[in-house]
Amino acid sequence: MRLTVTGVVVRAARSARITTPQRVTSLSSRVFRTGCSIRTQSTQAAPQEFPHTRPHSRPAEGDLLKSQKSIQEEEPSRRAFQNRLKEEKANTVVQDGALSGANVSGTSYVFDSISNLSPSILNLTDRRLYDIPDHPICITRKLIESVFSAPFYTNHTVADPVSTTADNFDALGFPADHPGRSRTDTYYVDSKHVLRTHTSAHQAAAFSHMARTKSSGYTICADVYRRDSIDRSHFPVFHQMEGARIWHLNQPENRTRLQAMKMRKERLREDIASLEGHNLIVEDAPTFDKARNPFQIEHDEEEVRLVVQHLKRNFELLIHRIFTAATAAGVGDPSTKDEPLRVRWVEAYFPFTSPSFELEVLWQGEWLELVGSGVVQQPILSKAGMSRSIGWAWGVGIERLAMVLFGIPDIRLFWSQDPRFLSQFKRGTVTKYEPFSKFPACYKDVAFWVPATSPSAASPLNIPDGGNAGVAAAAGGDATKANPAEVQASAFHENDVMEVVRDVGGTLVEDVKLTDEFVHPKSGRKSLCYRINYRSLERTLTNDEVNALHGTVTERLVGELGVELR
Ligand code: DAH
Repeated sequence: MRLTVTGVVVRAARSARITTPQRVTSLSSRVFRTGCSIRTQSTQAAPQEFPHTRPHSRPAEGDLLKSQKSIQEEEPSRRAFQNRLKEEKANTVVQDGALSGANVSGTSYVFDSISNLSPSILNLTDRRLYDIPDHPICITRKLIESVFSAPFYTNHTVADPVSTTADNFDALGFPADHPGRSRTDTYYVDSKHVLRTHTSAHQAAAFSHMARTKSSGYTICADVYRRDSIDRSHFPVFHQMEGARIWHLNQPENRTRLQAMKMRKERLREDIASLEGHNLIVEDAPTFDKARNPFQIEHDEEEVRLVVQHLKRNFELLIHRIFTAATAAGVGDPSTKDEPLRVRWVEAYFPFTSPSFELEVLWQGEWLELVGSGVVQQPILSKAGMSRSIGWAWGVGIERLAMVLFGIPDIRLFWSQDPRFLSQFKRGTVTKYEPFSKFPACYKDVAFWVPATSPSAASPLNIPDGGNAGVAAAAGGDATKANPAEVQASAFHENDVMEVVRDVGGTLVEDVKLTDEFVHPKSGRKSLCYRINYRSLERTLTNDEVNALHGTVTERLVGELGVELR
């Protein structure tokens, strides 16, 4: 599993992963207005109240979001196949002899030895839950956008789920062996493209766009994809929101750089002073720690303090709004509803910010990790043409927030098309989810001997699974989860089991747990047993149906992962 801020649930306590669904314990796994400054040539509408009605601003996708997609130079049959893919049904795997590929969001991709997309994941790439006005994901997005609104922020969504590995990892400073790059954790369309693992994939393009337009902030919402564990707070597709605020250096001709810097700090102070108040109880983390969480050499210490203060106050404000709305809707423990909410800032690590922080909220007795954030690495801003600017960025997992906001207990529900779920929500309002029924679960075990090598392990990318455990798991990759087959190095990864189960069972699987593992004393072979819990959120599953699903899962584990059943 991964620890990220974006998602929702509870996982092992590891400090550096955000936006994926979740690291706490109750909602299963690991998921932000300001005052007055830098009025650049913003043409945006006035700030809107939640709910807002302004049509969502969509940047030209080719401009902002598809910056570096490479056009593959292929031999003729490959090229012909690639052309044919354009005419094929979107988001469906097409096979032609030895070639396979798919048309994803209007672009054709021919699969290669790195590709690992499953048909079921492709099927989910065009749902755009964040654009369905009465859906809880969209309602939560709009609530966040109401805090990060015009004139300082432009709000974007990105429909195309494919990102280059350059945008998703390289531009953000991810080391070559970061676990998030692993094929066991990430969906590769081909060796140069992934289904984006986090909305930070759009940072470089968004910052370049900001540099051109001299704007001061943005939010970006999109669906993100990670191969992961299966439980009530983890789903291979979830939603993230990314935000940033930048202060440019305005240096009039009659002023020195030092004077310009002083003016910018003054603007920052004014911006902080203009932020609304809140009544949260905040346990703070130091603004920086020279060894553990340093400020960058290009930066002025006093200015970093101001940027971090602005970041933290904005986020606290968002949390205040979200949790006030949840409490007013009757979500949460009624006995504590009049008590102020407790939050804490903790040091974190992300390759693209320093210093970095996460914000955790005490909710129903659990510390929920909600936000990953920090001061943007200066080389990233410089590369985008903003070498004289400074700013902060954050990322949150929408499901994690929405599960709290609406009291939604299972992440699969967001994908439900059952009117008994969908009819409960209305744009602009927060209402407590009322379960319409709890249908019986049916669990099945599968026990097998782990093979000595596995398809995912054979990655020509040379990315050791779980490698680089010292760095954050931002963008995916769980450096904390022991590979259950570590004695047979790189031979097998639990996420491959999860992928097969999700591909066969889809939303009919509630969770999958490792219930037993042992190493045979003589042969040294490793045996694992997983318990798969089948339960529909919408109806009672028949025995025959579950048996058939489980049979297919078992067959595919043998056929695709080479395990030997016990
Ligand atoms: N992309 C990170 C994740 O998925 C979340 C994040 C952390 C985004 C820090 C940011 C940031 O913009 O500054 O876990």
